[in-house]
Amino acid sequence: MKALVLAAGKGVRMLPYTNDKPKVLVKVAGKPFLYYVLKNLEKAGIKKIGIVVGYKKEKIYDFIDKYGFKVDFIEQEEQLGTGHAVLVSKQWVDDDQFLVVMGDNLYSENDIETISRRIDKFCYVAAYKSEHPERYGVLEVLDGMLKKIEEKPAHPKSNLVNTGLYKLTPEIFTHLIDLKKSPRGEFELTDAITHLAGLGRVKIYELKDYWLDMSTKEDLPKIEEKIKQLGL
Ligand code: G1P
Repeated sequence: MKALVLAAGKGVRMLPYTNDKPKVLVKVAGKPFLYYVLKNLEKAGIKKIGIVVGYKKEKIYDFIDKYGFKVDFIEQEEQLGTGHAVLVSKQWVDDDQFLVVMGDNLYSENDIETISRRIDKFCYVAAYKSEHPERYGVLEVLDGMLKKIEEKPAHPKSNLVNTGLYKLTPEIFTHLIDLKKSPRGEFELTDAITHLAGLGRVKIYELKDYWLDMSTKEDLPKIEEKIKQLGL
C-alpha cells in the first residue's frame, strides 16, 4: 500500500525552530523528525511513499538526498489545510487505497503495518486514548464505527482521539472536492472523514503501541526521550 506523508506546513507553534525549515525537519535526538516517520513506514513494508511539500520544500529535497530515502514529491503550492493536501495528491494516489500520515506524528511500524492490512471497503482512523483530548479531534464511536470527529472541543465527550493516521479509499476524494473552509480557514481532512462517517464508511483502529505528536516546542524533550528509549 502507498503512504502519503503530509509535510507542507510551517508549524507556527514551533517557532523559532521553523523560521528556516518546515516543521517536520525540526531535529529530535540528532535527526530531523521526518527521518523517524519515513524509517517506520519503510520498516512497516510500505513500498511507495509520497510526500506533500510546501513551506521551505527545498529543505525537504536536501534532507531526502542526504539520507537516501526513495520518495515521490507532491507540491501543495498554498498551505490550505490537510484536506487540500490530500486532494492535490489525487493523481499520485491513482485510484488505490492508501495511508495518510501526518509528517509531525510518529506511529510504530507494527501499527502502520496492521492498519495497512485493512484492505476492505472501509476507511480507518487510527485512535488513541489521550490525557488531553481537548487538544485533538475527539472521536465519537458506536460499535467500532466512527460517527463523527469533533475538533478540539472545550468539553470532550470521550478521551479517544484522532492520531492523524488513516487508511483511506478513493471515495474520500468525492468528499474533499465539496469541503468548505473550517473556522481556522483551512480545508480539513477530518471534515471529509466526518461526511464519510455519516454514511457508515469509517471504522476505528486503536493503536497498540505508541503515538508521538510533535505539536509544540514543549513536546520536544518528551519526544526525544521516547525516541531514545525506543532505540529508533
Ligand atoms: C489534526 C487533526 C486532529 C488530530 C491531529 C493529530 O489537527 O485535525 O483531528 O487529532 O491532527 O495530530 P492539527 O494538528 O492540524 O491541529
